[in-house]
Amino acid sequence: MQTVNCKKLCSLVVLSFFKRFHRFESIKMQVFTQKRNPLTGGTEWDVQHDDYDYHQEIARSAFADMLHDTERNKKYYRALQLAIEKMHNDGKKANVLDIGTGTGLLSIMAAKCGADTITACEAFKPMAECCLKILERNGVSHKIKIIPKRSTELTVGEDGDMNQKANILVTEVFDTELIGEGALSTFDHALKNLLEEDCIVVPDSAVIYAQVVECPTLQKWNKLNDLADDDLEIMLRAPSKMKECGGSAAVHDIQLSQLPRQAFKEISDQIPVFYYDWSGRSSIDKKRTVKQEFNSMITGNAQMVFMWWELNMDTEGKIVLSCAPWWGHPDADLSSERPQDSIPWRDHWMQAVYYLPQTMAVTKDQVVTLVSCQDEYSLWFYLQNNQTQPKNYKRPICECGVHLALSRTHVSYINDGRRSKKLLGQIKKELSKDSIVLDLNGSSLLGVAAAKISKFVYILEPMQLHIGILNNYIQENAIDNVRIIPEITKDVVSEVTNVICDPNFSSAILPWENLKVAYLLHKYKLESVCLPDGCEFWAMPVEFNDLHKIRVPLNVCEGIDMTIFDALVENSRLISDAEIEEQPLWEYPCKCRGSPRKLAEINFKDLKPTMAGDGVFDIVDASDGSHNINGFAIWALWIVGGKQMSAGPTDLPVLGQLVEWDMHTRQAVKILKHSQVLNSTDKWSYQVVCDLDKGQFNLSIDLVNKN
Ligand SMILES: C[S@@+](CC[C@H](N)C(=O)[O-])C[C@H]1O[C@@H](n2cnc3c(N)ncnc32)[C@H](O)[C@@H]1O
Repeated sequence: MQTVNCKKLCSLVVLSFFKRFHRFESIKMQVFTQKRNPLTGGTEWDVQHDDYDYHQEIARSAFADMLHDTERNKKYYRALQLAIEKMHNDGKKANVLDIGTGTGLLSIMAAKCGADTITACEAFKPMAECCLKILERNGVSHKIKIIPKRSTELTVGEDGDMNQKANILVTEVFDTELIGEGALSTFDHALKNLLEEDCIVVPDSAVIYAQVVECPTLQKWNKLNDLADDDLEIMLRAPSKMKECGGSAAVHDIQLSQLPRQAFKEISDQIPVFYYDWSGRSSIDKKRTVKQEFNSMITGNAQMVFMWWELNMDTEGKIVLSCAPWWGHPDADLSSERPQDSIPWRDHWMQAVYYLPQTMAVTKDQVVTLVSCQDEYSLWFYLQNNQTQPKNYKRPICECGVHLALSRTHVSYINDGRRSKKLLGQIKKELSKDSIVLDLNGSSLLGVAAAKISKFVYILEPMQLHIGILNNYIQENAIDNVRIIPEITKDVVSEVTNVICDPNFSSAILPWENLKVAYLLHKYKLESVCLPDGCEFWAMPVEFNDLHKIRVPLNVCEGIDMTIFDALVENSRLISDAEIEEQPLWEYPCKCRGSPRKLAEINFKDLKPTMAGDGVFDIVDASDGSHNINGFAIWALWIVGGKQMSAGPTDLPVLGQLVEWDMHTRQAVKILKHSQVLNSTDKWSYQVVCDLDKGQFNLSIDLVNKN
């Protein structure tokens, strides 16, 4: 990185202002919105487009990679074709209703398959308007009637939205949990009010599968463990309240296929727990509990349930769409080195993890009962056996505060043994019985652990939920030399001998939002920092196997021109979305396409209030032909006791090879709009500006002369 002089810093700031101004030039009206500054913790006013919320909705309704999901699109297409053919073969007209038409994709497919009438409804009005334009562009607007309404508001009759009931329903209103978007009431209402009795529904039915597993790796995302240091001496016991908490009912959606196979053990088979008949042959239950016995496959600890679902697209069950992870997927090539690459990738439907309210020790062949519960929008699970029965099967609710205050990723970060060993080992080295310590990060447990080896500890934490967690730890570990403070006073500054800070704040989303530590050190002129020593930000060009699909334009989808939709989304993204977003990269494989480069380096023991830098790098160092790149990965590297602690790759990335990412932190990602074929002469560049007085960090990164 080159450090630039003040003049250049000013020109960078002017440039970024100009870009923002330039964007505003085309805007009629602006509104002030409040947003939180992650470094200062303060609230700031920001000028936004007056339709900011609208554009945010549109950008979010881009359905991520859903329309790139070729398997989904083709299976819907084929099942629709069969349904329309069947109606015609039976001598009937094919009257199609498409609920939640979005871009109109499924309705246009129905038109291409020769449907006689097509009515499509869409609850999100801007999408319904966009759909009208897409129909016109594709020359089918005369065949499809669009109604900008929720299906439950549709009327049937001579003057109604539909002249008559439909005899084919096509709809895709599913999420990772299958029923989380209200599919149960949508189907129930349609079957009772909008469809003829002998209708065909695409999809015809669905099955939810559950598999009970032992997975200590993922359990780290659920409950806080005891904290151990380098010598594996327990420094802090987790409060019993936290061990006993039933956890959060919120689903943990995850790309299970990326979980290392050795990370979990199967306790049950893959059990079909709920069957949903969308066709109306049997009624739809909005609430149910199902008990199924199984024999435990191993002796171990049942900790959680992996869940996924399958859609039977046609009435004969010949077209099946499975969301199973590779080990349960009908199309997986189990003989390949990476079977996860042999099944269709999708991000709009992942798999789900439901943590059991209590871990159950099981022995091989023991009979255990899986209790699967479902309400209108969600699922949860219990286990029971002859000795252990839950009092009731209520939806779990967090009683310990951890599941309310901390994100799952942050819980896993605190539980990460590698990191605790480094941080706790370092405070053991630096602190003594005379130390008066100030801990700047109350969303970690470092300050409470420090109390065990020092005279007194102040922990900076203004948030009530975090204070509750800290107090539970203080009580459980009989600690009496800690005070939690909402702000840093002069008296505290003059008293402290050592400042410590776990470099990962629960409030941080992007890696540099953790520079709150630098902001606080600078603001309160804190010296004698013993941890961390500093921080570096690194980046490299990458080729994602699939992640880029959440951002790239569609152009044509199943022969349908979708450029109007692309333009709408692109415009809204420019207004409402940041170019750089956070992602847990261990779930999204990518190859290294250029040497990692250091973008910025901040030394906490010799802090400078402003810093700016830029650089231009070759894409590929080795000139071994052309490569594709479709994004940049950016991460933080913390320096603790002179050693590196990576919140990015766990091993040095090797050109052309898949990168191993830290599982307990999220990285920053810039996804390019188009995959670029590059050769060794192409370059990428970055600019970075950090201003600790204002609590600002801005980074831009891109290919040189490419978009
Ligand atoms: C997952 S998208 C599917 C879009 C499109 N059918 C496709 O398959 O590409 C679901 C869409 O359904 C809409 N939606 C969900 N439930 C609805 C309902 N009951 N009535 C009307 N629209 C609904 C949402 O606003 C969203 O645009």
